[in-house]
Amino acid sequence: MITVIGSINLDLIAKTAQLPKPGETVSGSDFQSAPGGKGANQALAAARADAKVRMVGAIGNDAFGGQAVALLDAGGIDLAPVRKADVATGIALITVEASGENVIVVVPGANGTVSQSDVDVASLSGGHLLLQHEIPLATVKAALDAARASGTTSILNIAPWRDEAAELLSLADIVIANETEFDLAADRLKLRGSDRDERMADFAARTDRTVIVTLGAEGLRVATPQEQFAVAAHPVKPVDTTGAGDTFCGYLAAGLDMGLELKDACRRAATAASFACLKPGAQPAIPFSAELPV
Ligand code: RIB
Ligand code: NA
Repeated sequence: MITVIGSINLDLIAKTAQLPKPGETVSGSDFQSAPGGKGANQALAAARADAKVRMVGAIGNDAFGGQAVALLDAGGIDLAPVRKADVATGIALITVEASGENVIVVVPGANGTVSQSDVDVASLSGGHLLLQHEIPLATVKAALDAARASGTTSILNIAPWRDEAAELLSLADIVIANETEFDLAADRLKLRGSDRDERMADFAARTDRTVIVTLGAEGLRVATPQEQFAVAAHPVKPVDTTGAGDTFCGYLAAGLDMGLELKDACRRAATAASFACLKPGAQPAIPFSAELPV
């Protein structure tokens, strides 16, 4: 069983030829709203990877709330621990230009109310816990502590990076970061080494934990206290990379929860993440396990 304690957003996505500069107005060519939020995306990815999943979080008391959980619901995810808060549903304003480059403004809304009492409601008891940085960090810390106390394996995706989160990394069993996030964390934690691989090894040795750094088209690198290895990405021509990182995290948790070795779980998750780049948006782009090559 996988528990995700995290954000649920509605993504409002506009396409333009070029991103506007400050003060500029540009015309868009396409608009789409789609369920998103890193927590919800990762929950859906784990479910599409055939894991049993439950989502803990909050939506607002508005029309966006129902839309934001529609695909989670359709994906068979247990939504009983999703509260309705008296604030707006979290949203992400996403602008994507023709080159694929994007800018995103996230307004947390209800996600900002996810607290210790939601962690208590989750009453963890084994399996895997997936966390990100789109809910209050005090809640992330409470969840990591609860995971440790209950024998639940915790996976922390440090996205988006927040400086105050540095002390949380060593509380998770597995940390997942993209290269930018890892480099920022490494500076903050004063990790030793002259390149990223050495700094990853330093982190794994110092904390006795596993760290995974995703590198987009370059695949990913892993450091555990015992070994370091690389996994290649499945080569694709990306249309929109939104949601690729979340797909990786959800598939990885699902693989581990089903008993795969770390290396095999990483390989499958990397392939799924590549497939997520082939369609626009986050949740609509997450592949079902049956769509992946074996
Ligand atoms: O990781 C992608 C997600 O980040 C989007 O779905 C958006 O909601 C933002 O939170
Ligand atoms: Na996508």
